[in-house]
Amino acid sequence: MTQDEMKKAAGWAALKYVEKGSIVGVGTGSTVNHFIDALGTMKDEIKGAVSSSIASTERLQALGIEVFDCNDVFKLDIYVDGADEINAQRDMIKGGGAALTREKIVAAISDKFICIVDDTKAVDVLGQFPLPVEVIPMARSYIARELVKLGGDPVYREGVITDNGNVILDVHNMQITDPKALEDKINALPGVVTVGLFAHRGADVVITGTPEGAKISE
Ligand code: 5RP
Repeated sequence: MTQDEMKKAAGWAALKYVEKGSIVGVGTGSTVNHFIDALGTMKDEIKGAVSSSIASTERLQALGIEVFDCNDVFKLDIYVDGADEINAQRDMIKGGGAALTREKIVAAISDKFICIVDDTKAVDVLGQFPLPVEVIPMARSYIARELVKLGGDPVYREGVITDNGNVILDVHNMQITDPKALEDKINALPGVVTVGLFAHRGADVVITGTPEGAKISE
């Protein structure tokens, strides 16, 4: 099975958590794209979606799924999204697709975070995947220096502007043994919009695409 086939297995398996008549929180990325395709088969049975990126919004709308403004929705039952890394405690690194800020917002209004990944994303310690940090452009150099003090090697993601008009620093060479503490420290730096550590709001359900099919851990 290819990695994309494992992503597809995870994305389609998430469909069983979608309640009829509901508004669904939808993340961003290649795994979520499979979930969106699956959701298209239920488009007449759901009310719509709240999306975490322009890319996902376009894909949802192309399938005829209504996309609601996050401000018009009080709460969501489920949020379905991928991850770049996930540990056994269900803390995640996210933001490989630069959508981390909106992802964190939609996750925050959702009762249940359903993480869909292929089996290459499971790690013992977070940090092999460079940790994305979305920053206000004028704070980029200052925050890079602060991230070095925290033990990382930040690299400016050239040519990428987020949906919110900001830039991304990818922090290499971090061994993230206390994800919540690091999330707090980076969040406290002036100019940081969002750090791609999802530890305070981790996943509730993990669906892993494997060569044997989708495995669900609740
Ligand atoms: C985007 C994300 C994605 O969920 C993460 O990058 C995983 O992507 P993919 O499903 O393409 O492997 O956080 O900002």
